[in-house]
Amino acid sequence: MVSRVIPVDPFDLVVFGGTGDLARRKIMPALFRRCAAGQIPDGARIIGVARHGHDAESYRALIAESLRGEGADPCHLEGFLRRLEYQSLDATRSEGWDGLGIGMGQGVRAFYFSVSPDLFGALAERLHAHGLVTPEARIVVEKPFGHDLESARALNRVLAAHFREDQIYRIDHYLGKETVQNLMAVRFGNMLFEPLWNSQYVDHIQITVAESVGVGARGAYYDHAGAMRDMMQNHLMQLLCLIAMEPPAKFDPDAVRDEKLKVIRALDAVKPHHIVRGQYADGEGCGYRAEVGDPRTTTETYVALRAHISNWRWAGTPFYLRTGKRLVARSSVINVMFKDAPHSIFGEEAGRHANVLSIRLQPNEGITLKVTIKEPGPGGMRLVDVPLDMSFAKALGPENQNPPDAYERLIMDVIRGNQTLFMRGDEVEAAWAWTDPIIAGWQARGDVPKPYECGSTGPGDAELLMKRDGRRWQGINP
Ligand code: BG6
Repeated sequence: MVSRVIPVDPFDLVVFGGTGDLARRKIMPALFRRCAAGQIPDGARIIGVARHGHDAESYRALIAESLRGEGADPCHLEGFLRRLEYQSLDATRSEGWDGLGIGMGQGVRAFYFSVSPDLFGALAERLHAHGLVTPEARIVVEKPFGHDLESARALNRVLAAHFREDQIYRIDHYLGKETVQNLMAVRFGNMLFEPLWNSQYVDHIQITVAESVGVGARGAYYDHAGAMRDMMQNHLMQLLCLIAMEPPAKFDPDAVRDEKLKVIRALDAVKPHHIVRGQYADGEGCGYRAEVGDPRTTTETYVALRAHISNWRWAGTPFYLRTGKRLVARSSVINVMFKDAPHSIFGEEAGRHANVLSIRLQPNEGITLKVTIKEPGPGGMRLVDVPLDMSFAKALGPENQNPPDAYERLIMDVIRGNQTLFMRGDEVEAAWAWTDPIIAGWQARGDVPKPYECGSTGPGDAELLMKRDGRRWQGINP
């Protein structure tokens, strides 16, 4: 299967925070790959902006260095660097802004705010004051989008003062992952699943986003966020929305986001005994507290919870969500656990068998459906569960082994003006409205997260959360 490259018209993309970690690790490599694929036309300009320290030549050298790991073909690299420019600017000062506008075309101009959210307001104001906001202008903002409902509302207000909602692209990079988009294709492109996709047939749903890495160098940010704000409020919430939402009438931005918003608004408050917080503990060379240099921090690096969506489709079907760092493997999977058949014609001895649809987001993207069959050979009717396995790499050929990085898709969507895979302001606020009371509850109770060993599946209490309901987590496998 050959990937299709849809050409775009020349554009200007300004990356504020152009020398930062995200720009070097994600944004520039994504743009480079799109350029190498022939999608970035001649005449497109990518302008890195930072406070100081570079000119165009040294900036190109810096970015070329970040692209080394890409095994960049020199010819592709040369073509990409030709489109790259640099501008020194301080978001909080007036100098330099007029220079930014020089050479900008009349077409799409995108401003990527890859900077601390504290600067979003100043950037939006200066762009406006210097006449850089044209009807074709758009901004891209990174998470964290606020720290709670109040700060998210304040951010939305600041941005809305200068940009229309259809000019604001709030990134949740999980939405750009190939298999996350596939969730919608599987649900709404097939007749097979949708009739069974409700509380009558689904016993429960498990969403796991497990990471094997720790917080690394991001301790300062993470210790103020924790797994609830860093992962649950956004990435897992988005997965929950896509798995639970009603079919939108069209695959268009507002139709999709309206349906996701309804899911978030239908979520019940989470009961304190339906949530488990964990923190990876001091062990041999591995401990969160030592990593962030605070022996008393109570920030969670793991959360598991049971959520309920109060609507006709899902009343009575629990959703179990868990995410954590330094777990046994990097593995993001959604498991749709179907109910047992209502009556077994094979008798008690055949045991209980239920179908499981597993959607593996990463690594090894693919879908597995566990079905029950007869164990081959004589000896009576013995039932066994086998997977119907569809690894996308196997099914679609080796060229699909490494699907494009989420940022490639999302940045090109910004240029194309497609907001379907971006969060709308009201969606983000609704997600905070659900998250805030959980965090407030922990603070009020002085909750201390349960320690868990690095390389484990998380705290034992998370197993209990399931066990109490007569269920258990599926394994976390690489
Ligand atoms: C980020 C979080 O949004 O997502 C990180 O801030 C996390 O803490 C990362 O590690 C996980 O992304 P991915 O694409 O590696 O699953």
